[in-house]
Amino acid sequence: MHTILVTGGLGFIGSETVIALINNGYEPVIVDNLSNSKEAVLDRIETITGKRVPFIKLDVCDEEPLRKVFAQYKIDAVIHFAGLKAVGESVEKPLLYYQNNLMSSLTLLKVMKEFDVRNIVFSSSATVYGVPERVPLTESDPVTHATNPYGETKVMIEHILMDTQAAWKELNVALLRYFNPIGAHPSGLLGEDPNGIPNNLMPYISQVAIGKRDHLRIWGDTYPTPDGTGIRDYIHVVDLAEGHVATLKKLDKNPGLVIYNLGTGKGTSVLEMVHAFEEATGVKVPYKIYPPRAGDVAENYANCDKASEELGWKAKYNVVDACRDAFNFQKKNPDGIK
Ligand code: NAD
Ligand code: UD1
Repeated sequence: MHTILVTGGLGFIGSETVIALINNGYEPVIVDNLSNSKEAVLDRIETITGKRVPFIKLDVCDEEPLRKVFAQYKIDAVIHFAGLKAVGESVEKPLLYYQNNLMSSLTLLKVMKEFDVRNIVFSSSATVYGVPERVPLTESDPVTHATNPYGETKVMIEHILMDTQAAWKELNVALLRYFNPIGAHPSGLLGEDPNGIPNNLMPYISQVAIGKRDHLRIWGDTYPTPDGTGIRDYIHVVDLAEGHVATLKKLDKNPGLVIYNLGTGKGTSVLEMVHAFEEATGVKVPYKIYPPRAGDVAENYANCDKASEELGWKAKYNVVDACRDAFNFQKKNPDGIK
């Protein structure tokens, strides 16, 4: 495998994965419609790696321009990051989420079949497990219904990919269920750049720390957890990117369908994250306790033994490393990537 099409490759996880691909000798080609990213990310990838990655601005739902990319490059595998991901927005605008996430995946698969491209890695999410019956979550735990339209698109795309693989046996499919990706590239050039008020914990803490927001609102401290705040499995985006490289190596052995949890296997509470951030940066994070956020669960973390055994991959960084890198990115880019 050599040439890898990266859909959504200018986004938070995609751009980090492009760097990991280059570092491992692959030739990435990026397509992205810039709906949630900036073209300037390309310059930053070049600064970090010394390589100008081919980039084609297109919407993956548009078949013709996508076909041209497959005709121009001899693509060996696709990593499909392109998608909308804001949970709250998906509740407000379900049709937008179903349209964008499902149509892009269907169009991509159709064009892959036409060009006989037989490998795809899909960005799924721990959200497919819905409300967990128990933690840590393993890949064989039930996937029934997610708690919001965004999550439902992930469940549906997983099914579309499984059915397609069942009918087209030469297709290799990897469903990667990410837990909570955080952190940034250690250079501070690439990281998470959310629009408006961040919904997720890490960017919110970083914005409090640079004084952009007054205090962190902790959503509940009466969960049945040791300190009462919610527990999640936070994984450094650099580790997550390496997980994609390990997955491509696995697909090279024609495994058919594979599913992996990508997390650290360790749960961290909101208060522990606040302390980790303070330890990493020396900056105090003021917070206040608020009522629980609708739809949140007490605990969600991964069992990652399968990825470790079958991919030889394990997360190397801890939450203190991730907080340091996220804050470095935030300080260097107080108004996001320009
Ligand atoms: P992101 O928004 O930073 O990146 C997604 C990229 O896809 C953006 O650059 C956006 O412009 C592009 N895009 C969206 N729709 C497109 C389309 N129709 N055609 C072309 N480009 C399109 O998000 P991210 O955090 O990097 O997430 C990447 C993937 O991983 C997404 O599928 C997301 O759902 C999934 N995921 C993310 C998380 C997380 O917490 N960040 C967790 C689990 C799964
Ligand atoms: C959320 C989504 C999930 C998605 C993931 C990554 C929901 C219900 N789930 O996961 O589908 O895959 O983001 O995009 O939205 N917290 C605070 N204060 C804040 C923000 C968060 O206390 O300002 C707490 C939350 O209650 C939770 C933890 O921090 O306990 C992590 O929250 P967040 O970063 O939003 O991720 P998830 O809710 O796990």
